[in-house]
Amino acid sequence: MSVRILGIESSCDETAAAIVADGRDILSSVVASQIDIHRKYGGVVPELASREHLRQIVPIVREALQQAGLTFDDVDAIGVTHGPGLVGSLLVGITYGKTLAHALGKPLVPVNHLEGHVHAVFLEAHKTGAVPELPAVCLIVSGGHTVLYEVTPDPGSARDAAQQLHYRKIGQTRDDAAGEAYDKVSKLLGLGYPGGPILDRLAAVAKDAPAPVKFGPIKTRGNAFDFSFSGLKTAVLYHVREHPEYAAEIKAREEAIERGDRGFDKLLPLCSEQTLGLVREFQNAVVRDLVERTAKAAEELQAKSVLVSGGVAANSQLRSAFEQRAKSIGIQAWFPSRALSTDNAAMIAAAAYPRFRHNVLADTSLNATAVLPLT
Ligand code: KG4
Ligand code: ZN
Repeated sequence: MSVRILGIESSCDETAAAIVADGRDILSSVVASQIDIHRKYGGVVPELASREHLRQIVPIVREALQQAGLTFDDVDAIGVTHGPGLVGSLLVGITYGKTLAHALGKPLVPVNHLEGHVHAVFLEAHKTGAVPELPAVCLIVSGGHTVLYEVTPDPGSARDAAQQLHYRKIGQTRDDAAGEAYDKVSKLLGLGYPGGPILDRLAAVAKDAPAPVKFGPIKTRGNAFDFSFSGLKTAVLYHVREHPEYAAEIKAREEAIERGDRGFDKLLPLCSEQTLGLVREFQNAVVRDLVERTAKAAEELQAKSVLVSGGVAANSQLRSAFEQRAKSIGIQAWFPSRALSTDNAAMIAAAAYPRFRHNVLADTSLNATAVLPLT
């Protein structure tokens, strides 16, 4: 009999529920995004996020059960994200998970959101019948996090979905997360929120546009595996301020977005060659930095694979640059599919599985933790 875990995720602005069997087969995965609610504020508004989670949690869990063709009785355990994230948002998922576990008499498994992102990579790999080789270097890169871990297996544990993993943080951003830099640059260019997907597509069509500015390598003192993106974002801001010719097109795009014309097809005709060149240079700088620091860490630690997860891992250029760079050092780069890169609950259910198998459970005292290290 397989072990079916219901995963619940509500740490930021996605309410998600999923059912995963044996930590590897996704029976259902439902995500309710709040992007439309937060868009006009250019970022996630915590109070609005918790209220929306409250509205969504019950129907989303019900839908996950329905899609899997299961009832609560068929579920063996409930895995819930308890941090890191927005406390008000986390509390909605935790309270619901605790209540369900108590009412159904099922075990409750606490899951670190970041461990969920790591398991998104393993979920995808299992689909192809493969497992990334360990030790690995794992980059989690999203709107809230840019952090680099060394991932090692628990000595003696089998190489399957129940394998317990250990994490050692080797670097992190000192200021903005990479996704946050995408979102801020997008906002200042009048390209809306979230910034990643639109900048990704614009950079892809900017091939021959002349570069209006060049961004050098990002310098950080001390730990070579730490990141910093706020300087790059400020450099884009200063460049735009010093070139008044950008102002009219930024205004035109802001107006288009205000009208609801926000897709790539609507925004591309409102972008000059100069803007396309700027977007490409920004993305080149971010991708180069993420790939180079991660690859250096992989070489230094003699990692056998590179794992890349989180919302920014959906970026096309980042994926191909990682694939090439990993190849150059003779190791493989692994990513989740785009749907599993951004926040979802399948990754939470998958991360809950080894914990469930090793009896790492929580009781009704489980609480939300805004800052929760991954160990
Ligand atoms: O993992 P996620 O859904 O939520 C957080 O935990 O933050 O990531 C969302 C972030 C946003 O900052 C968004 O702009 C970025 O991921 N993102 C991308 C792409 N798709 C989403 N960044 C670059 N390129 C993309 N294609
Ligand atoms: Zn996340």
